[in-house]
Amino acid sequence: SDRALAGRRIVVTAGPTREAVDPVRYVSNRSSGKMGVAIAEAAWRRGADVLLIAGPLSVPVPVGVRAVHVETTEEMAHAVRASLADADALIMAAAPADFRAAEVAEHKIKKGTGVNAITLAPTTDILADTRDARRAGMITVGFALETRDALAAGRGKLTAKGLDMVVVNDATEEGAGFSVDTNRVSIVHADGGEEHLALMPKSEVADAILDRVAARMADGR
Ligand code: CTP
Repeated sequence: SDRALAGRRIVVTAGPTREAVDPVRYVSNRSSGKMGVAIAEAAWRRGADVLLIAGPLSVPVPVGVRAVHVETTEEMAHAVRASLADADALIMAAAPADFRAAEVAEHKIKKGTGVNAITLAPTTDILADTRDARRAGMITVGFALETRDALAAGRGKLTAKGLDMVVVNDATEEGAGFSVDTNRVSIVHADGGEEHLALMPKSEVADAILDRVAARMADGR
């Protein structure tokens, strides 16, 4: 199945997004982008036509991988939507900020004014919002990063967001989640199948995910 990805158009999202609070501050999360970048690199190595849609990353974009850089969840949603018209797979490894400031201050908020609350509003759910733009037969992979009841949450996201697969991990587990170079994931499939992978480098997790994407593509032919 190694050649199954050759020439396939694979969109990978990676990293956090940032939502401005004022001109100098933002709301974001601890995502480094390592998992998504590892997937983009592994897909590129397999000969796929890769587009990486990246928020602010803590790691470099691999040489050879085409990247579009975005800042906010809204911008990422636009870039994803635009990419889907000719995508064979969407692998949504990014951690888009789920909240934005309800009102963005035009000027830097000063200490002296004594701000004691920032009102947040939800951002667009990219997977849900771009569902109508998916091509028939394309494969959509989501992630679920949780701090408890990870598998149940993953199964819920699979149906709620119309995914073929969801890669689940628990951020509180040793060697998993943000910033580290390893991950322990479970992969939940739309048909109900569940796989529990061992702790391994993110590069190997990337390969495991792509093996399954490739197998599904081979099936779909
Ligand atoms: N995701 C998305 N748009 C967002 C937030 C998340 O498309 N605004 C995607 C992520 O890239 C990931 C999946 O949805 O593939 C699950 O993200 P997660 O933050 O775990 O789930 P949420 O739907 O945000 O649910 P909750 O925050 O309630 O756990």
